[in-house]
Amino acid sequence: MSLHWIPEGGEVLIQGASRGIGLEFVHQCLAQPHIGRVWASCRHPQEAEALQALARESGGRLHLLTLDVTDELTVSDAAEQVRAAEGRLHLVLNAAGLLHDAGRGIRPEKRIEEVTPEGLDALFRVNAAGPLVVARHFLPLFSHGDPAVFAAISARVGSIGDNRKGGWYAYRGSKAALNQFLHTLAVELARRAPAVTCAALHPGTTDTEMSTPFRAWVPEEQLFSPERTVRQLLGVIDGLSPADSGSFFAWDGQRIPW
Ligand SMILES: NC(=O)c1ccc[n+]([C@@H]2O[C@H](COP(=O)([O-])OP(=O)(O)OC[C@H]3O[C@@H](n4cnc5c(N)ncnc54)[C@H](OP(=O)(O)O)[C@@H]3O)[C@@H](O)[C@H]2O)c1
Repeated sequence: MSLHWIPEGGEVLIQGASRGIGLEFVHQCLAQPHIGRVWASCRHPQEAEALQALARESGGRLHLLTLDVTDELTVSDAAEQVRAAEGRLHLVLNAAGLLHDAGRGIRPEKRIEEVTPEGLDALFRVNAAGPLVVARHFLPLFSHGDPAVFAAISARVGSIGDNRKGGWYAYRGSKAALNQFLHTLAVELARRAPAVTCAALHPGTTDTEMSTPFRAWVPEEQLFSPERTVRQLLGVIDGLSPADSGSFFAWDGQRIPW
């Protein structure tokens, strides 16, 4: 059983749930019968067909929320909807992330000449500021005092100590900033809400839309299915204790240097 530390009827929020790793988190959380409501957010839930299908099959347990991390009003509205439904969250998992967007001409930079203010702004707003804005509005829903986890999917390439290849300025920088934000939040929560553990998680290279353009460079055995990635990350989350709060963990439970 995953998420065994969540009490019977406890609730989770998966943020960035329309596809990829976030969608699979929704799937695996719904498979845990002791979990009550699963809240899943994305920018356009009405267009998220896989989520809609899961909601239809969930027997009323899956609730969809509209949330764009770059639009604070949608974040506060989503939190208000959970509060109005007397939601009590035990896990908030931030999966939303941005690496490339052909429509906006955003792609990982190989050289300094490819860095643009627009690309930096877009990635920092989604990858770094996004989970912090979510924390600002959703943390009151953790005030029940039970153990709870606030986690975000970071990336090993955000590690400064581990950076030997360079490139990917905006993505590396935004994930490094995310890690700092989560660590800073953990320091504050240790005083204000010590039952809440805060963590940055590296999923490993996972077969999703985000990794598709780079798949040719990844050895097959190092490319995880979303099912495997989420199973591994749930194992890491289940092993967390408040003493781990503010740390950065890989899919295999190893700590990653900042
Ligand atoms: N895949 C990998 O190999 C890999 C490796 C390391 C880290 N990660 C991290 O893992 C997380 C999940 O990635 P993935 O591979 O599942 O990517 P993905 O398939 O591209 O999914 C990204 C998700 O982010 C959402 N999103 C993008 N912009 C958003 C915004 N402004 N507000 C709310 N949601 C937004 C997308 O939703 P909509 O576009 O539908 O709104 C989608 O659900 C990301 O944080 C990524 O950086 C992935």
